[in-house]
Amino acid sequence: MRVSTGRWVSGADFFDREPELRLLENLVREHNHLLLTGQRRMGKTSLARELGRRLEADGWVFLFADVEGADDAEDVIADIARAAHSVRSLRDRLGERVGRWVGENLDEIGVGDFKVGIRAELNAGTWKRHGRDLLRDCARYERPVLLVLDELPIFLKRMLRHSNGRDRVDVFLGWLRGALQEIEGGSLSLIVSGSIGLEPLVRRLGIPDRINHLYPVRLGAWNRETSVQCFDRLAESQSVSVEPGVAEAVYDELGLGIPHHVQSFFARLRDFAIMRGRDRLTVQDVPEVYRSALLGPAGQKDLVHYETRLKDALDDQSYSVAMEILAEAATAGAFTPKAHRRLEQLYAAVTENVPERIADTLEVLMHDGYLEQTAAGHRFCSRLLRDWWASRFRTSHEPLEHRPLGKQLGGSAE
Ligand SMILES: Nc1ncnc2c1ncn2[C@@H]1O[C@H](COP(=O)(O)OP(=O)(O)OP(=O)(O)O)[C@@H](O)[C@H]1O
Ligand SMILES: [Mg+2]
Repeated sequence: MRVSTGRWVSGADFFDREPELRLLENLVREHNHLLLTGQRRMGKTSLARELGRRLEADGWVFLFADVEGADDAEDVIADIARAAHSVRSLRDRLGERVGRWVGENLDEIGVGDFKVGIRAELNAGTWKRHGRDLLRDCARYERPVLLVLDELPIFLKRMLRHSNGRDRVDVFLGWLRGALQEIEGGSLSLIVSGSIGLEPLVRRLGIPDRINHLYPVRLGAWNRETSVQCFDRLAESQSVSVEPGVAEAVYDELGLGIPHHVQSFFARLRDFAIMRGRDRLTVQDVPEVYRSALLGPAGQKDLVHYETRLKDALDDQSYSVAMEILAEAATAGAFTPKAHRRLEQLYAAVTENVPERIADTLEVLMHDGYLEQTAAGHRFCSRLLRDWWASRFRTSHEPLEHRPLGKQLGGSAE
């Protein structure tokens, strides 16, 4: 098993998730369409790809489309077409339907040109029909097909920023639902995945029924035992000698078994040992590396990804509300009911529907796994995330309860 601190993993680098794989495989084989959600870096893409890899070994066709960069529905259809390019007969059928540009020699067209060509043929008047035909081709294919649309919520969020954004999201989701209903009983199963909550999004837009045909599966963190086993497996396969108790101490520092954090912690500990010319990791190394490396500049780089994802998920006002809430929860230990009331009062002067906005933002933060509700208020689920946020905002965040009304907002948003 190789160490990975970046992209998705699969095959020999993919650890555990056996119960989740069993569940997903069952649901997919029963022809359900799924909504796979989970906090950032929990391993959604890896899980979907590993499922695809295993099904492929069993004769399935696996199509994976990352639609994070899509700007409109036409781009999404082109992304699916690009994924289908690897399956010759799907490519041929699509080429015949869409393609004046394709000419005679489909075989000679690389995947990049194929997507560009298909995209050029798609427009507001044609994408629905071509998209429906493409899904129908998949559903009629001689072998079962699994199609994953990764990061669909980010695409929908982006579309929301366009004029008529809400209507466009509504039209796209309505189209997807209709297209899937038409091919019911066929051999296509769809998994939609992403870290931004699709459910809160459609609820807020007043169109919750648009996704109720998708069976929701939530990917949670590894428990202590699995996190420890993964750490030990990494150490073993990298021939790193580890004192008993190190893996447990790693889990306790993290406070939550987010796979990416387990991997990063291992990588930093290994680097720490190499730089000191040591051949064995000790329990004492764990808090030191946590402070110096995970919370240090290299670790802060990871935090930027979390902030970017939140920025994508929320409009400007809600993003600044989210930053206030996270900064408060990180520095004070919890976002208390008292702090909540204060935030409402502070924002009442600058924005409308403040209670709803704060409630919606909290819902997103809980749905996306940042915070959990406790008797004392909302707290971070992950100790690492809390400490990251605390070190980011320690100097700039003034506790909400100390802030006089009328004082300028934005102390946390920088
Ligand atoms: N099953 C696994 N075994 C080992 N490592 C994993 C596993 N799942 C996730 N990881 C670790 O987490 C990292 C992120 O995985 P992945 O990209 O699949 O997560 P994600 O939930 O899709 O993230 P994002 O929210 O950024 O889209 C990987 O690079 C790897 O370090
Ligand atoms: Mg992902």
